[in-house]
Amino acid sequence: MTDFELVKLALEAREMAYTPYSHHKVGAALLCKDGTVFKGCNVENAGYTPTNCAERTAVFKAVSEGYKEYEAIAVVGGMDNLKDLPLCAPCGVCRQVLNEFGNPDTFRIILAEVKNVDDLSSITEDDVKMTNKTLKEILPLGFGPKNLYIE
Ligand code: THU
Repeated sequence: MTDFELVKLALEAREMAYTPYSHHKVGAALLCKDGTVFKGCNVENAGYTPTNCAERTAVFKAVSEGYKEYEAIAVVGGMDNLKDLPLCAPCGVCRQVLNEFGNPDTFRIILAEVKNVDDLSSITEDDVKMTNKTLKEILPLGFGPKNLYIE
């Protein structure tokens, strides 16, 4: 699975985003150590606070199916009327949830800016600009399982 392929799966996931309130659609694709991928989208709620971000949807799907070891997550997001998506980094809550399961030194966060998302079937690598970070880079000095002596 290449990073570009993972980004395309994140774009597919974004199509499913339920965003009647913000109109900001996010997609994530979580690559597990064994190659399995879980996709997630944001799911909003009339009560606003119950809204679940795309990254957490992907993680919760994976954990609930028994997958807790991850290699990378690709994230794409932007307002639903945009043709070109800007970089969309995980929110603080999602960074904390990712930190529960990933090794922060090696877990790769792939942030993709994507052009021409109105026709996903025609997207090529030229339409995608990827920024690779580790979880540790986007969540420095994080609090995690190790603080509670859980490996
Ligand atoms: N959102 C995500 O899905 N992931 C993030 O990391 C940032 C924000 C969603 C939540 C909400 O549905 C919308 O984007 C606007 O905040």
